[in-house]
Amino acid sequence: MMKSIFFGIVALMFAAVVMQQEQASAQYTNTDSSSESYKWDDMSNRCSAKLYGQIKMEFDASLFYLQYAAYFAQYNVSLPGFEKFFFNAASEEREHGIKLIEYALMRGQPDIVNENFSLAFGTAAEPEPEKREGKTKGSVALTALRKALEKEELVTKSIRELIKVCENDPNDYHLVDYLTGEFLEEQHQGQRELAGKITMLEKLLITNPMLGEFMFDKQNM
Ligand SMILES: [Fe+2]
Repeated sequence: MMKSIFFGIVALMFAAVVMQQEQASAQYTNTDSSSESYKWDDMSNRCSAKLYGQIKMEFDASLFYLQYAAYFAQYNVSLPGFEKFFFNAASEEREHGIKLIEYALMRGQPDIVNENFSLAFGTAAEPEPEKREGKTKGSVALTALRKALEKEELVTKSIRELIKVCENDPNDYHLVDYLTGEFLEEQHQGQRELAGKITMLEKLLITNPMLGEFMFDKQNM
């Protein structure tokens, strides 16, 4: 009997000690994880502002390609290859925007509802027919590819500017490495792909202006 009372008291004391420790550790965790007390590995304000600008640009490019995809999907245009190509391009740009948002959040930057960031777009528009001898009668598909290449050139330029700011202010090695290795690589490949498609379509349109666009859509998009 005495033995079991003794063990009961020991068990109660043990439980009290465990509860105390848990309370102490919860208090410690709460204090430590408060966003006010934690100092993030700093990203400079200029670099951060540029990064937000790039995020916006990626979503802007996504809408731009979405508009093009919708144009080629119309029943009276009906170029399914171009439609698919531009829907994919729109998804890729959206992915890029999301990746950069995730990156910014990983680095402890304010989220995108902050005043630093607003989604106001205005560059999406239907592609126009290519101008030939002063007349706007040529291939809309060719204009769309050229405009897409122009867009990608702008995005690449913007990424390079972002890299320049972030490597000098002071050098944000991690972001610069991420942008150089992943984003610029994809930009260069995308630009090369578009430039090649433009050349092929131009050749086809010279040799076969009536069927060129149709054949290109089927075989090269
Ligand atoms: Fe992009």
